[in-house]
Amino acid sequence: MSFEGRHILAISDFTKEELLRIIKVAGEVDKDREKHKDLLRGKIAATLFFEASTRTRMSFQAAMQRLGGSIIGFSDVSMTSIKKGESLPDTIKIVSGYCDVIIMRHPESGSVAEAAKDAAVPVINAGDGTNEHPTQTILDLYTIKKELGRLEGLKVGFVGDSKYGRTVHSLVRALSNFNPEFYFISHPLLKMPEEYLEGLNKKGIKYFEETDLFKVSKELDVLYVTRIQKERFESEEEYKKVKGAYRLGKSLAKHIRSDAKILHPLPRVDELDPELDELPQSIYFKQAHNGIPVRMALLGLVLGKLK
Ligand code: CP
Repeated sequence: MSFEGRHILAISDFTKEELLRIIKVAGEVDKDREKHKDLLRGKIAATLFFEASTRTRMSFQAAMQRLGGSIIGFSDVSMTSIKKGESLPDTIKIVSGYCDVIIMRHPESGSVAEAAKDAAVPVINAGDGTNEHPTQTILDLYTIKKELGRLEGLKVGFVGDSKYGRTVHSLVRALSNFNPEFYFISHPLLKMPEEYLEGLNKKGIKYFEETDLFKVSKELDVLYVTRIQKERFESEEEYKKVKGAYRLGKSLAKHIRSDAKILHPLPRVDELDPELDELPQSIYFKQAHNGIPVRMALLGLVLGKLK
């Protein structure tokens, strides 16, 4: 099992054993960050963000710096030569010569995998359109394992946007390795796409589709809430049809088990009231902070400094 020089483009590129290995390495990094402080000294990561981000971009930057490495890149494409008409392939070929690893987010599905074809260094997908967000998923797995002590046999409910939510798509694929039961709770216009459901049918994984969260919420070990992403809709009218479909407040406490965990990849808008932050089941801020050890581990692994 080697990660050195590999791209991280889709969660399905990794076996169950590889996912467990990454989580284990992240745990080791988390236990002793001091030991790893010079691991990537002299290495450079380039963050190419064609779409807005707080957590993914800044936690990758912090992770690289915590490992003694450096960061270059952009988060405002209008200040790059793409604005002058330079192509994405040319941009990638150039940036490949400036760094040791590229971390890229782009609004078009498949664009990061396409960019990787022109890269001379490993490329990490930091989210491509509605497709995938594999590093978010690895930190979600890390968080679930750390907080619940297991990944096997969990009942996981997804509430919010199962149609456009790339974090949902990647996490469903990853958890499919661990004998789960899924509950997809959404507005009928934001249902899980057929291709994912077909994949679950082929693997014999049980799933349920629901519109009423409270009908199933007592079943759940994990409630994974997502934002309805205004930016993914073709028009304001389409977005307005589903806006505010789920607004979870403190009354949620009566409808979930005391040992359940509430996750959210964040950012949130109105789907999780801040009053929920006080619930012991709410672990979404811890989840976001787990992005540091997980991304430290991923950088160390693809750059061949961790095994
Ligand atoms: N979870 C996540 O991808 O957050 P950002 O969009 O802030 O990176």
